[in-house]
Amino acid sequence: MPDLSVTLSGWKLDNPLIPASGTFGYGEEYKDFYDLNVLGSFSCKGTTPEPRHGNPQPRIAESESGMLNSVGLQNPGIHYVVEKVLPNMHQYFRKPIIVNIGGNSIDDFVYSAGLLDAFDNVGIIEVNISCPNLHDGGVNFASKAESAAEVTRAVKAATKKPIYMKLSPNVSSIAEIARACEKAGADGISLINTIMGMRINLRTRRPVLANTAGGLSGRAVLPVALWMVYQVYEAVDIPIMGMGGVFNAWSVIEMMLAGATAVQIGAENLRNPFVCKEILDEMPSVMEQLNIERLADMTGAAHPHQKA
Ligand SMILES: Cc1cc2nc3c(=O)[nH]c(=O)nc-3n(C[C@H](O)[C@H](O)[C@H](O)COP(=O)(O)O)c2cc1C
Repeated sequence: MPDLSVTLSGWKLDNPLIPASGTFGYGEEYKDFYDLNVLGSFSCKGTTPEPRHGNPQPRIAESESGMLNSVGLQNPGIHYVVEKVLPNMHQYFRKPIIVNIGGNSIDDFVYSAGLLDAFDNVGIIEVNISCPNLHDGGVNFASKAESAAEVTRAVKAATKKPIYMKLSPNVSSIAEIARACEKAGADGISLINTIMGMRINLRTRRPVLANTAGGLSGRAVLPVALWMVYQVYEAVDIPIMGMGGVFNAWSVIEMMLAGATAVQIGAENLRNPFVCKEILDEMPSVMEQLNIERLADMTGAAHPHQKA
């Protein structure tokens, strides 16, 4: 029997498969497709202190081998999550989840992180810093090492839960940002968030997305994500949740070879809501074909010096 288990900051997961934030809601929409308890965990929709309606429509655009979104953190707000979602989640998911938080100020992140501390079924807080900082002219927190570190320090002080900083690929040195987060106390790094892009409607000669630009994700971004995870593995000594374009068991393993301890799957859930279960079903046979007994041994194995 192949061993699929992995460990993130002392939390042992049955397997590394985690649906990614924004593509799995809070699990409710998927719970009738398959038993969600087969998953390692899942990362919930990016949640902010106040409820948000998100950006105007249209906010999804198709692309070859991928998709653009400018959903803009539509969510019911952290109070709804701590009062209604987390206390009832055991009805369909009996493992801890990863709560992804978003915000436009450091106080936003601190506020939500503090409220999550009381919940045993929160395994990790994933801090999405690919959000505009309204106190810095709307510049993304993730785009500068100093602001990424500042959020990390503040959230770390607000919670006892492990915190994983979710990085944006839209930067010139991902290693520098990851290192700054590690130095500021991050327990782990999640990457990549979406890559900025746009599409234009040829008939109207206007951008397809109401917001002009959006984030590209899906299979098209896999090589970019692998390269970024590879660089971050070299740069830090904390665990990585790798994501971007993963779509089957082979690409899960490829992401682990690049340096990921656990692997998130985003856009592919929107194409095929069963994809995570299908990956788990095919994993033992793929591991056998690749002579892998323990999946955890794959983390960082593509590097000249794999960490112990
Ligand atoms: C529709 C949609 C909504 C998303 N919303 C969030 C979000 O709320 N918070 C977040 O950190 N990432 C969000 N993401 C980014 C994904 O979690 C993931 O980082 C990215 O899509 C790359 O993975 P993929 O190529 O497997 O989709 C969203 C992605 C999509 C497609």
